Amino acid sequence: MGIHFGVDYYPEHWPKSRWETDVKLMKEMGVQVVRLAEFSWFKMEPNEGEFHFEWLEDAISLLDSYGIKAVLGTPTAAPPAWIIDKNPKIQPIDYQGRMRHFGGRHHDCQSNPVYRSHIKRFVTAMSQRFADNKGVIGWQIDNELGNSHYDLCMCDSCKTHFQKWLNNKYGSIEVLNEAWGTAFWSQGYNSFEQISTPLITAVGENPSAMLDWKCFCSDLIVDFAKWQADIIRQNCPNHFITHNYMCFDNKVDYYDLGKLLDFVSNDIYPAGNWQKQPHQPIDEIAASHDVVRGYKKQPFWIMEQQSSIAGWGTMGRAVEPGQMSAWAMQSVAHGADAVCFFRWRTCAMGTEQYWHGILGHSGNPGRTYYEAKELIGRFGSYMDELEGSMPNTEVAIVHSFRQNYALDIQPNHPQLKYVEHICKYYKGFFDRNVPVDFVQEMDDISKYKLVIAPLQYLMTPELEKHYIDYVANGGHLVLTMRTGVKDANNICMTDMELPGRLGEICGIEIPEYDCLFEKEGAILYEKREYPISKWADIITLKGARSIAEYSTSFYRQTPAITEYEYGEGMTWYVGTEPEEELMDELSSYLISKCNITTLGTSGSEVEMMTRENSHKQWLFVINHSNEEQVYSLNDRYIMLEGEKEGMLKPYEVQLFEKNIVKK
Ligand code: GAL
Repeated sequence: MGIHFGVDYYPEHWPKSRWETDVKLMKEMGVQVVRLAEFSWFKMEPNEGEFHFEWLEDAISLLDSYGIKAVLGTPTAAPPAWIIDKNPKIQPIDYQGRMRHFGGRHHDCQSNPVYRSHIKRFVTAMSQRFADNKGVIGWQIDNELGNSHYDLCMCDSCKTHFQKWLNNKYGSIEVLNEAWGTAFWSQGYNSFEQISTPLITAVGENPSAMLDWKCFCSDLIVDFAKWQADIIRQNCPNHFITHNYMCFDNKVDYYDLGKLLDFVSNDIYPAGNWQKQPHQPIDEIAASHDVVRGYKKQPFWIMEQQSSIAGWGTMGRAVEPGQMSAWAMQSVAHGADAVCFFRWRTCAMGTEQYWHGILGHSGNPGRTYYEAKELIGRFGSYMDELEGSMPNTEVAIVHSFRQNYALDIQPNHPQLKYVEHICKYYKGFFDRNVPVDFVQEMDDISKYKLVIAPLQYLMTPELEKHYIDYVANGGHLVLTMRTGVKDANNICMTDMELPGRLGEICGIEIPEYDCLFEKEGAILYEKREYPISKWADIITLKGARSIAEYSTSFYRQTPAITEYEYGEGMTWYVGTEPEEELMDELSSYLISKCNITTLGTSGSEVEMMTRENSHKQWLFVINHSNEEQVYSLNDRYIMLEGEKEGMLKPYEVQLFEKNIVKK
């Protein structure tokens, strides 16, 4: 597409007389694209059927006259007051039965038929109006679907939709009663009409019902997006359609949503006011990029890249000189073909007055502007060739929204968090400069030298076979605690000891376990003691070899981590959640056992990542700290950008290339 750097721009927040100054500054900075209008419904339709797209057309044609293209957002995350006033039931109901009212954003129920009809009218008009506008190249549907909809919506419309969804899935109420285990606590239903959205109960919830509810909500959001995507596809066949994701957020299954889109986009705020200060650990940001690349198995856009201080009522830390560039190039290194900075100019009004942009409130170009300009000047010329390239990965981590849902419903240990747990494995490899892919459970994993499948809590016969076949055919697989506990309906398995049929490829059985509720435990690995947390599977060896044993509690000296050769391959079972030190040892061991390529050696603030096409590999080396760093590479590359191989200045980004011959 040839478009690589942009900004999120809100011309409607500023007098028209200022627009040309903005656009000139953008042009000088190297901006090629802007995202516009995703919260501007009222400006575009102040009364029903009274469309005012002229201001947007003026902004687009001004931008286009400077060669800057536009991505239009559909403004459906903020329906205007006149729609709400006429139809208050569009506002969502939370699980305590309270309505969430107009005055912020996301005050919409996504199943509400009246709201859907307003969307149809508006998106039809908007997409028809801009279909042939030469300044427009694509669309972003809504904004961050799932954001602010955490326990929403419990209204009557959602209830009816949920009942239909269940009827469709189960066919008869008897089948549902069986699947949900409603014999427990007299929860049986006589008909689908008796089933409600999960409102607050006196105590407890049915885990099977809750799993279906979460899957229903995800399907509803996908359907909500499809409602718009279908209209835009029909009216604007030459435009792309994307959506701005939120990393690992799990309100909607992003793999499902991705099927509607030409490509996925993501929003990334490493130093938002909610982050661990001063910024999110770099491995977590890297993992977010890698999962986003995995949602469609292709490069992506960053639709919102943090550029400066982020916050609403309170603020996060100032972004240090060079830090924004390091974050932006980290996005590129992990697969972004385009990066749009949020936002062009810091807004003077509304909730986000302190969410700073490329320009401050004054609108004068300052440190952030000049840094962005320099970044685009330095790296812009490589972006065309990089477009479409992907990393060459040997390690995959399995990621699943359903496992995440099930463990949100019953975390087993109060602090067990699905994403945090799988990212502990990620960090082990990230710290050793090993590129990692995230894959879905049933994806073809045959190309990977090592597959880590943490917390395979919900199990199906197909998934068991998938893993058994992978190992039998020479794959290396890591399985962990809480594997094979439940069936697909979130009901505990009863026919075998844990980890169920997968015990066959692990060479173990787990007749007992211990939730490390109040204190941490420890294990002995290679004669050293390491802390563990959350869980201890008490393992009986059935052919496997123990490579680490517990050193605490009544099961001390029994296996905690095991290794087993099966067929042509090998399986490891980790019966606990390793802490960082142990994860370092374990990942190093797995890297050497599976002969995995590492890109080089560096401290933890330095990141290495590659992208490659059919004939070339690019290597990014990024210093995420404000101090000088040293590193060494394991292969020979030609330096394209940077001062000295092996040395990095604070926040320096270096770029290398080498030719490759694909077998
Ligand atoms: C994002 C959102 C933007 C803006 C930004 C700052 O999550 O997509 O619209 O709100 O955060 O809060």
